[in-house]
This record gives sequence, C-alpha cells and structure tokens, in this order.
Amino acid sequence: MAKMEVKTSLLDDMIGVGDMVLLEPLNEDSFINNLKKRFDHNEVYTYIGSVVISINPYRSLPIYTPEKVEEYRNRNFYELSPHIFALSDEAYRSLRDQDKDQCILITGESGAGKTEASKLVMSYVAAVCGKGAEVNQVKEQLLQSNPVLEAFGNAKTVRNDNSSRFGKYMDIEFDFKGDPLGGVISNYLLEKSRVVKQPRGERNFHIFYQILSGASEEFLCKLKLERDFSRYNYLGLDSARVNGVDDASNFRTVRNAMQIVGFMDHETQSVFEVVAAVLKLGNIEFKPESRANGLDESKIKDKNELKEICELTGIDQSVLERAFSFRTVEAKQEKVSTTLNVAQAYYARDALAKNLYSRLFSWLVTRINESIKAQTKVRKKVMGVLDIYGFEIFEDNSFEQFIINYCNEKLQQIFIELTLKEEQEEYIREGIEWTHIEYFNNAIICDLIENNQTGILAMLDEECLRPGTVTDDTFLEKLNQVCATHQHFESRMSKCSRFLNDTSLPHSCFRIQHYAGKVMYQVEGFVDKNNDLLYRDLSQAMWKANHSLIKALFPEGNPAKINLKRPPTAGSQFKASVATLMKNLQTKNPNYIRCIKPNDKKAAHVFNEALVCHQIRYLGLLENVRVRRAGYAFRQPYEPCLERYKMLCKQTWPHWRGPARAGVEVLFNELGIPEEEFSFGRSKIFIRNPRTLFKLEDLRKQRLEDLATLIGKIYRGWKCRTRFLLMKKCQIIIASWYRRYSQQQKYQKIKSSAITVQSYIRGWKARKLLRELKHLKRCNEAATVIAAYWHGTQARRELKRLKEEARRKHAVAVIWAYWLGLKVRREYRKFFRANAGRKIYEFTLQRLMQKYFLEMKNKMPSLSPIDKNWPARPYLFLDSTHKELKRIFHLWRCKKYRDQFTDQQKLIYEEKLEASELFKDKKALYPASVGQPFQGAYLEISENPKYKKLKDAVDEKIIIAEVVNKINRANGKAASRIFLLTKNNVLLADQKSGTIKSEVPLGDVTKVSMSSQNDGFFAVHLKEGSEAASKGDFLLSSDHLIEMATKLYRTTLSQTKQKLNIEISDEFLVQFKQDKVCVKFIQGSQKNGNIPTCKRKNNRLLEVAVP
Ligand SMILES: Nc1ncnc2c1ncn2[C@@H]1O[C@H](COP(=O)(O)OP(=O)(O)OP(=O)(O)O)[C@@H](O)[C@H]1O
Ligand SMILES: [Mg+2]
Repeated sequence: MAKMEVKTSLLDDMIGVGDMVLLEPLNEDSFINNLKKRFDHNEVYTYIGSVVISINPYRSLPIYTPEKVEEYRNRNFYELSPHIFALSDEAYRSLRDQDKDQCILITGESGAGKTEASKLVMSYVAAVCGKGAEVNQVKEQLLQSNPVLEAFGNAKTVRNDNSSRFGKYMDIEFDFKGDPLGGVISNYLLEKSRVVKQPRGERNFHIFYQILSGASEEFLCKLKLERDFSRYNYLGLDSARVNGVDDASNFRTVRNAMQIVGFMDHETQSVFEVVAAVLKLGNIEFKPESRANGLDESKIKDKNELKEICELTGIDQSVLERAFSFRTVEAKQEKVSTTLNVAQAYYARDALAKNLYSRLFSWLVTRINESIKAQTKVRKKVMGVLDIYGFEIFEDNSFEQFIINYCNEKLQQIFIELTLKEEQEEYIREGIEWTHIEYFNNAIICDLIENNQTGILAMLDEECLRPGTVTDDTFLEKLNQVCATHQHFESRMSKCSRFLNDTSLPHSCFRIQHYAGKVMYQVEGFVDKNNDLLYRDLSQAMWKANHSLIKALFPEGNPAKINLKRPPTAGSQFKASVATLMKNLQTKNPNYIRCIKPNDKKAAHVFNEALVCHQIRYLGLLENVRVRRAGYAFRQPYEPCLERYKMLCKQTWPHWRGPARAGVEVLFNELGIPEEEFSFGRSKIFIRNPRTLFKLEDLRKQRLEDLATLIGKIYRGWKCRTRFLLMKKCQIIIASWYRRYSQQQKYQKIKSSAITVQSYIRGWKARKLLRELKHLKRCNEAATVIAAYWHGTQARRELKRLKEEARRKHAVAVIWAYWLGLKVRREYRKFFRANAGRKIYEFTLQRLMQKYFLEMKNKMPSLSPIDKNWPARPYLFLDSTHKELKRIFHLWRCKKYRDQFTDQQKLIYEEKLEASELFKDKKALYPASVGQPFQGAYLEISENPKYKKLKDAVDEKIIIAEVVNKINRANGKAASRIFLLTKNNVLLADQKSGTIKSEVPLGDVTKVSMSSQNDGFFAVHLKEGSEAASKGDFLLSSDHLIEMATKLYRTTLSQTKQKLNIEISDEFLVQFKQDKVCVKFIQGSQKNGNIPTCKRKNNRLLEVAVP
C-alpha cells in the first residue's frame, strides 16, 4: 500500500509558538516566555520566519538520530516543528534544485552552540546528499577536518569547555547533482595569546593536553616531552583536567582524523614536533646580566631545554641563543644590533611561541584545504558554513575581544541587510506594497571601527606606524580626540564631558556601545598586538632550521627575500579578511542560526531569563521579528493555506476545483475576515496580524473537532455496516460450507451403505459361484473315481478273464499232455513191461547222482578249515545231501588239520581255546592276544644265574615266569615283581634279588578280577583267613594278562578241580589289609600316552585311567 502522505504543519501540536512571528503580543517578556516554555519542553529550536533560534540544551537530546534525518528530508520548512535539520534541508535543496549558493551563518556568544550547530548542519547534509565510495570519502574528509581543527584551535574557557578560539568559514562544494566534491576552509584570527598565557580557570589549546595524556611513552620520548603537565610553564595548571573530556582518547581521535584527512606520517610527526617545541619554549628562562657599558643583558638560565628544542627543530643552538639575546634593526642599509634585557627576552620568547603556533595552525588549515579541495574544475555549487566566535564581553576586554566584536558587528550588519533585503525582495516579488520598517542599523558602529580615516582600526594602525614613542596611552589619546563625538564611543578622557564623572569607566579604557551592548576595552596591549612583532633575528633563526615545516612557516626569515616594508598589522589584516568574507556572504543566499546560551553554568534544564534577555537584545531578535512582521506577520503559499483551512468553508470543503488563490479568496470572504487584515500576493497570501492567523487556527481546531465527530460518526456507521456486511457474507459462507459439509456427510453415508450392500451382494454371488465351482469339482472328482473304479473293475475283469483263459490254456495243455501221454502209453503199452517206468525213473536218478558227484569232485574247495567256499547245489532234490556233504567234508579237513599238530602244540591250542572261551567279547585286550603265542616262561629262571636262588627255592615246574607290576596300595605306584606260577602256588619275588616276597597256594586264590578294557590290570583275590591273605589281595598289571589268567585258570582247575572265578568288571573291590578299596577304570586319559595310569584318589578309591 502506498504510504499515505500526511500534511503536517509547524502549527500542529505547537508548544508556545514555533515561529516568533506569530507571537502575540510581541514584547520582550512574551518572547522570553515563549522561548522558556519551549525550552522546558525540550523544544530548543524556534523560528523567526526562516531564521532558526537555537538554545543550547547542554545535554544530548534524541533529536539528531538517523530517523529524524529521514523525517526532515525533503519536507517543507514549515511542515514540521522547528529544527536545525529543516533549515539544513531547505538550504541544501535550494542549492541543489534552484542552483542558489547558500551560506549558513551561525552566530551567538561563546558556548551558545555554534560549533555544534555547524557540525549538525554538516552531518545532515552529509547524510542526505549522494552516496558512493568516492563521495563518502569526500564526506568523511570534510567531517574529519573538524576534530583536527578543534584540537588545535579550541580551548577550555570559563564560558565553554570547547571554545573555538578562531573563526571558521567553510565552503562545501557540490556538483550539479548535489554530491559533495570538496571544500575550502578559511580561518580567522586565532587567539594566539592563549599559547603563552591563559586567564584563570582556562586552558591552553586542547592539543597540548591531548599530546601529553594520549601519546605513547615512546612518542613522548621522541618529542622530548614528559607526561606531567606541571613541567610546562605554558600550561595553566588550575584546570588542566576538564570534567567529561578525555584528552587521551581525543588524541587518538585527532591522529585518526589526521590520517583520514590525508596527513602523511612525516607531516604528522613534524606538526607534533612544532607543538612540542612551542611547549618547551615556555620553559626557557632568562636571568639578568649587566654589562660594563651599563646595558642590561639577559642570559638563558638553563640551556638544556634550549638544546632539546634545537634538537627537535634542527636549529643551530647558538643561532637561537643569539636570537634571544640580540635584536638587529635594519634601517636604510644599516644594521644595528642591540641587546635584549630580561623582559625583552621573555617578550621575544613568547612572541616566537605565539607565532610558531599560529603559523602552524594556518599551515594546518592550508594542508587540510589541499586534501579536501575539489578535484574537478566543473562549476560548483557552494554551501558556506560560518562558525565564528560570538560576541564577547569579559571583565577585561582586550584587542582580541575588540576584533571579535567588530566581526560580530559586521555579521549583524549583513544580517540586517540581507534580512531586510530578502523581505523587500519578497514583497516586490509578490507585488505587495513595501512599507518602511523602523529598526536599529548598526552600520554606524561598524563605521566607528572600520572607517578608513577616523575608524578605530585606522587610528591604531596610524599609531603603530608613527615614528616616535608609541604607547597604548598615546593611542587612547588619539581615540579620545577623534571619536569623542561619536554616539557609540565613550571615554573618560574624551573631550565630551558626558563621561568625565563616570567612575565605571577607568582612564585606561574606552567603551563602545555595540549593537549587543556596551563593552569596555582595556587599551593596554592594543599597539603590541596590532603590531604583532616578531624580531627578525628570530624569524631568521627559524628559517635556518633544519626542519622543513618550520622553515616553511617563516618565509620572511629568508635573508634573500628581506622586505623592509612592515608587514600589515593584525587589525588591518583582520579587517581585510572580514571584508572579503562579507563580500563572499553577500553573494550567497543566507540562512541564519542564532544560538542562545540559556545559562552560564553549562547546565541542562536551567534557563536564566536575564542572560537570555541580554542575548535576545544584542542579537536584535525582537527587531528581527518586527522587521519580519512589519508588513505582514505571516505568509503562506496559496496551496498549503487552502489545504489547511479549506474545511472552514462549504465551497472549498472537501474539494476546491479552481485555482488555489480563488479558493483562498472565497474562503476568506466566507469567513468575513476584514480586508485590511490580509493581502493577496502572486503566490502567497499575506496575513497582517497573527491574531487573524490564530483565529483561523481556532476555527480550524473547532471545525476539526466537528469533523472528527463527523468522521467518527461516519466511521462508526461505516464500521457497523461493513461489519454487518462482513457478518452477512460470513453467514452465507458458513451456511454454504455447512450445507456442503452435511451433503458431504450424507453422500459419504450413502456411498458407504452402497458399498456395504454391494459388497454383501458380491459376497453372496461369490459364495454362490464358489459353491457351484466346488460342486463341479466334486462332480469331476466323483467321475474320475467312478471311472477309476470302473476301469479297475474292467481291468480286474479282464485280468480274471485272461487268467481264466491262461488256466484254460494250461488245463488244455495238461489235458492235452495227459491225453497225449494216455495216447502214447496206449499206443506204446504193447511195447513196455509194467515196471519199466520205475526202472527208467531210478536209472535217471542214478545218472543224475553220478553226474553230481563227478562234478563235485572237480569243484572241491581247499583243505583249509577256514575256507568258506562250497559249490552251489545243482538240483533241488539234492539239497539235504549237498548240506550233509559239506559238513562231512569240513569235519574231515579239520581232522586232517589237527592230525598235523604235536602234543605241545595241541596244549597251546587248548590253552588258546580256553582263553577264547574265557575272554572273547568280554575283554577288549583279548583280540590282541590271539596272535601272540603263549610262552609261559618269559624269564629264563633256570638259565639266568641271577635267579639261581629263586630256582633253588622253587622245586616245582614253573608254568609262568614273568615280570609284572605290583601296584602299591598306598599311592597306586607300580613296583616290578617276578610272577611265578607253579603247579600248586603263585609266587611273587623281587625282580632284582629274586627273593620270594609272597607265596600263595592255588587253593587260596578265590577270584581274579579285571576290567573289560584294553589294560593289563588284574587283582588276585585271596581266600579270607588264609595265611597269604593277611597282607591283602594283589593288584598287578602285566603285558600278558590273557595268557596269565588263562594259565592260572587252567592250573587251578587241574589241581583243585575247581573253576577259578574270573570277574570282568570296570569296578571291583580289592581287599587291602583291613580296607576294601574300589578299583575303578575310566576311559579317556591320554596323559601318559598309551600307558594306563593308576592313581589313589582317596581311602576307598583307586582310579585307573585307560587310554
Ligand atoms: N545541540 C546541542 N546539543 C547538546 N549539547 C550542545 C548542543 N549545542 C551545544 N552543546 C553543548 O554546549 C557546548 C558548547 O557548544 P559550542 O562549542 O558549539 O559553543 P560555541 O558557540 O561554538 O562556543 P565558542 O564561541 O566558544 O566556540 C558543547 O560543547 C556542548 O556540550
Ligand atoms: Mg565554537
């Protein structure tokens, strides 16, 4: 939506009156009251027509924000409440759009806010003018020139902590588009006396304090400075520090600004060197020295400071020292050198310091100008901003105040001239008759000062140039003579008797009635200051410096360019530059900002009426209003006027179709405003009296209230109507939505019912179809079964038939065979006897038998008893014969086999047979023993002489002599023993010695136990109570267990006729002395390879692990 443009006016929400022209009644009190009222409401700006009165608020107000800038941008002057931005905007726009060079004249006394106002104007213009990298740089340089000049040119005074001690006029140059191109700064009369002396409570220029507070130690050392202010005579000590001023940070700001403005590093360095030199000059002190010829001489007390200055500035020390001691005067090619006494030496020192500093300041301005100067030669539009020191009235007013006040007189002059001129021009432009206006014209005061013959400045110059003794008093005398009759000049010594008795006027003073008040000037120092003398020796010493900046500051020191003509005096220089300035200003469209200081305490919220009243008077503001109001108090172009008041008349409200002027005429006629109260200009309506305007305003206010009610009424009606319409519309929409919704619901219901019904029907149909299909399938299956059965029946029937047929065929064949046999027998009976058949049969049988045996003879298997081959049976009837034959043959061949054996061998086989019966399929060790021949006497007892004793002890036949392991009952470890079995005894003997350890008669052996596994352990159980049993049963192990057990069994049987009990079990009890111990065989341990191991587990268990 396009932003609605709201037409506002200065007159809206006005506090007091925004434009003093509208003040009613117009007098000093109402004027001050209006200002105060506005000031109390933070309205620090008020207009007098197009002049802005600015009251220093002494605190930061939130009225300079970027938003405010936007608010005032491109708005008409009277559209918004008074503001410095409105003036800046007006000036900038008329410069840009109407091609009129502008100047902004800011006046007011010290501390009234001129410098701040000038900065606000510049920042506003910078904010609204063109943008872009290059333009921004120009803007930045223009803005940053301020901190540099303020540091060097401003100082704390009793009136203002940041008082400008120089006048400044800055031309900002723009191109045709309104983009800034550059600028030119002019400076006016720096108050250089401040360098060497400051009034009580005031400071030297800021830069001295900034450099000492803010520079690094290293930099200070370079400049040969110390941080302590008290070290320097030129720095007034009583207010070295200023509240709210941070000198150190300001120093950084200044250096930064210098960099932005374009100072090279070496230039900055040189500048600070000069500043340091000035500061140090103050520390040079002189002492008197009398010469023989009676002349007073002076001498530098301590040359150290001088040395350092010379080092800093590259001046030859002796040259400078001489310059402080002698003065050379050249006249008519004659050079006369005179010595300087102490006072003169101090004068020379201070003059040098002042000159150095003020020339440095001018150089800075020139250098800044070089940086900010426009780079193009195209035609430029110019906006000048003048921030010049305000009117000053001190207790002691000297030459500086005189000059400053003169400048202010000139400005007032130009103000009056231009305001009146403008007013007059407007009247002419608008075709309105011009009426004479009474006002005070200060041209007469200007004349008193600047008149070329009788002006004070002229006389001062004359006095200065005059040969002979010239003092301030002679000057005053002269003044008294020449100006005595002047209305605005007052002096006690004047010939005019008016002031003879005026004790308030000392003899050494003269008083001028300035437009802004009476000011009394101390005449002392006028001549000196006007002369502004620097001894040539000093300027020459400076020129000789090996320091490019200082050299450049003193061109007159160059001996080659010696100019015997006196330089122009300070007064005439100033007069000339003011004249140039005035000329310059006259060519431009002026805009005024008149600054007013509300109190002397630099305090916010304090409005000292007396002080303000004084300023209003000397600024001539009331005159200003009167001039403005002389003819007509208020004027306004027709369009905005009609726009503002059109609601007061039926014809013009709400729209006027014709030209604006006609509309205003109709309006004013309708309102019955007397004709003498207004006048119609070409483009503006002129209202003579503010009363009329306020009446219009009141009517408008009243009408606005009515209109507001009307609008409210219409608005409420409109609101209700629109609300009703909206509700109606909403109702229709809701209803339609509801209908749609309910129809949707209904439709959904129907749809789902239809789907349900449909699905039921489909289900029913599907089931019906399924039933039919199932029926069909069953029918098919039944048909198949029936067919199968039927085919079966058919097949069986066919089979039966075929079988029947086969049987019949067979029967037929048999019958046929019988019948044939019968037929044959009947035929051949006659050829055979009755028993021939049997005989044939027997014969056939015989023949078959014969054939069988003959064939058997050839097919006989081998004679090996283990050969299992036997020919197949040839005829079924021979089956039993064939089996019997096989048995007989086997028995026969076994007999044959046995018959080959000797008795010895037979015995062995008997034993083997016995072993087989005892152990086959019972003990796993058995199969391995089958192939081993039973040797019995493994140990050659009879042959081995080692066993001779044993042989001798055993007289019976030895059946077994073998080494066995006897298991130790305590720990299961084995010990070797010789096991002997004789016909009646079992003996155990020591293997090494052959001594018999135990002897058991066979009758006492009751049982032998062993495991079913592949081990050689066996226990020999002894009969309880027998002698041998006292030591307990034997648990032995042998490699020939099967043989030993078999032989033991057989020997026991043959001797005792009793079968020895052989128990094969993996767990058996063995009697050890009193205890029975269980010997348990477990399978699986591979610990000792394939050797079974025996281990005593506990008292009751001996475990044998068998691999
Ligand atoms: N618009 C403002 N808003 C806030 N403070 C202000 C404003 N104008 C001035 N001041 C305050 O008043 C002080 C003095 O203002 P400024 O230096 O502009 O005075 P001046 O008229 O230039 O004085 P001089 O003639 O001594 O240079 C400023 O340092 C600032 O503190
Ligand atoms: Mg200032």
